[in-house]
Amino acid sequence: MNPLWCEFTNAETKEFLSSLQWGDLSGELVMDVGCGEGDMSTKCILNLFPRVGKIIAIDIDPYCIQRSKILHKHKKVEYRRADVTMMDHLQRWGSHFSKIVCTHCITFIEEQERAFMNMFHLLQPGGEAAIFFALRSESDDVYLEMSKKSKWSKYFQNLNSQMVLKLRKYDAAYYQNVLEKIGFTVHFCTEQVAEYVYKSDGEYKNGVRDSTFIESIPKNLRREFVEESFSTFLKMHPRNEDGMLHFKYTMIRALLKK
Ligand SMILES: C[S@@+](CC[C@H](N)C(=O)[O-])C[C@H]1O[C@@H](n2cnc3c(N)ncnc32)[C@H](O)[C@@H]1O
Repeated sequence: MNPLWCEFTNAETKEFLSSLQWGDLSGELVMDVGCGEGDMSTKCILNLFPRVGKIIAIDIDPYCIQRSKILHKHKKVEYRRADVTMMDHLQRWGSHFSKIVCTHCITFIEEQERAFMNMFHLLQPGGEAAIFFALRSESDDVYLEMSKKSKWSKYFQNLNSQMVLKLRKYDAAYYQNVLEKIGFTVHFCTEQVAEYVYKSDGEYKNGVRDSTFIESIPKNLRREFVEESFSTFLKMHPRNEDGMLHFKYTMIRALLKK
């Protein structure tokens, strides 16, 4: 992952978690859902709540778990490979968590309702879940635009299955309704608009090279795809007054109680 983007999302995660008035989580059992490589939300939880009892950090991707165990080993953290939508991956933990953190993850999950239901099950009565994820982003508008061009359209057959684009039709009221139906008390479920400013044009291009959208573009056309995405982005989102590329995106922030 782009280290600058990782630094930025970690700052977002810290701001979100420190706004929750969770005290110091002394001795508490916390689950980090979709932990990535251990240097993201798990690290934020440890930094903000050094007195936490234990963190079970799960991720669906075995590579992430393998790297977390090697690079971000910590005596209070147990990294485990698990899919939050699969109850048989989670059953071993029962309903013992006092807190669940799930940041920058729900966007990538197709069966979101199932994920929320499983988090509800994992919490002890009175336990809380802090959920934070991107709902829509101007940076993805570029891919919608690219998919309309005759040269690229054939490589975007799977565009409809891209979760990042599907979520556009939802809003905070939709999620509040889903979460309440599951049984959560929703302390808040709101949308927040934020802005990202790229440090350089190269950072933008690296982002396209790392995106899931490029996977369906043949290797010999990828360089051209990156350049055309860049010029399309510039047309749609002109540089700011400092000459930098930037885009706006909308996040969902929610705090839930079982
Ligand atoms: C962008 S990373 C977010 C990492 C970190 N939580 C953060 O706040 O930056 C999203 C992670 O969610 C994981 N993920 C996606 N679907 C998942 C699922 N169904 N169950 C568990 N983890 C999942 C991905 O493998 C990825 O590592």
